[in-house]
Amino acid sequence: MAVLEIMKDLFFIERGYLNSNHFLYRSEDPVLIDTGYISDFSDTERFINQLGVNISDVRQIINTHCHCDHIGGNRIIQEKSGCDIALHKIGKHFIDTQDNWSTWWNYYNQKADFFTCTRALEDGEVIPVGPHKFKILHTPGHASDGIALYNKAEKVLISSDTLWENDLAVMTIRIEGSAALFQMMESLEKLESLDVDLVCPGHGAPFRDMKRAISKSKKRIETYMFDKERIGDDLLKKIIVYTLLMKRIIDAETFFTYLMSTYWFKETVDLYFNSQYQLKYNEIINSFIQRDVIKHDNGKFFTTVKP
Ligand SMILES: [Fe+2]
Repeated sequence: MAVLEIMKDLFFIERGYLNSNHFLYRSEDPVLIDTGYISDFSDTERFINQLGVNISDVRQIINTHCHCDHIGGNRIIQEKSGCDIALHKIGKHFIDTQDNWSTWWNYYNQKADFFTCTRALEDGEVIPVGPHKFKILHTPGHASDGIALYNKAEKVLISSDTLWENDLAVMTIRIEGSAALFQMMESLEKLESLDVDLVCPGHGAPFRDMKRAISKSKKRIETYMFDKERIGDDLLKKIIVYTLLMKRIIDAETFFTYLMSTYWFKETVDLYFNSQYQLKYNEIINSFIQRDVIKHDNGKFFTTVKP
């Protein structure tokens, strides 16, 4: 785990792929931005404790969107601290109505708990994190309730899953709608207009060259727009790795049957690969094994990607 003090008393905690990165503002009234995935909550709590904050003292959580890897610690922290939880107004609606689909949890068969969202955020409003002021930028595409947070004074951008340094977060057209690629493009253009020295993404290390990352992401979206197979392939690969991270170890014999029991696998292969389930499965698993992304040992699969 890497920790970086990005602004006075505001710490960036870098996690992996299963858990989103998160942020802690250390003070009498601590603030968290995102809370990781539920199964690794003991690590999340330990990292927060190591920075001198007890989770029962947390005053507020701000989530960049309500996907499982960003809200995993919400419920338990709120139970212990009674903290406020802020989401973009669309995310608040998903949580208020216990919408298991728009949050992706049911679609991707992910573990997550509902919590009480106490505050709806609007695009353009400014939210204080201690003395630091962050402008909320609604950035739909990857997630319809996605936000980025921008601090103009220190030129810091918390980009969440809208902008990563070298890759693009998964695009779930089936849930986010047919226009999601266009929305993602517009969200990137919104970020492009900002003066930024440091980008702190939802996954991966902080980086400085925002323009380069945006141009890479835009190119990928352009590819997706004209190459259906590419979007389908990227989605299948990412979610298979994610599933292995969530489940840690999977019986190799039954993995295909399990995938076929989920909504996402079948529908993705239907959408992009003419319902050739077994063919796609074999192709992806074999390429992962060859590249050492997946290990096959004693009848079990696990991934070498760090959680
Ligand atoms: Fe994420």
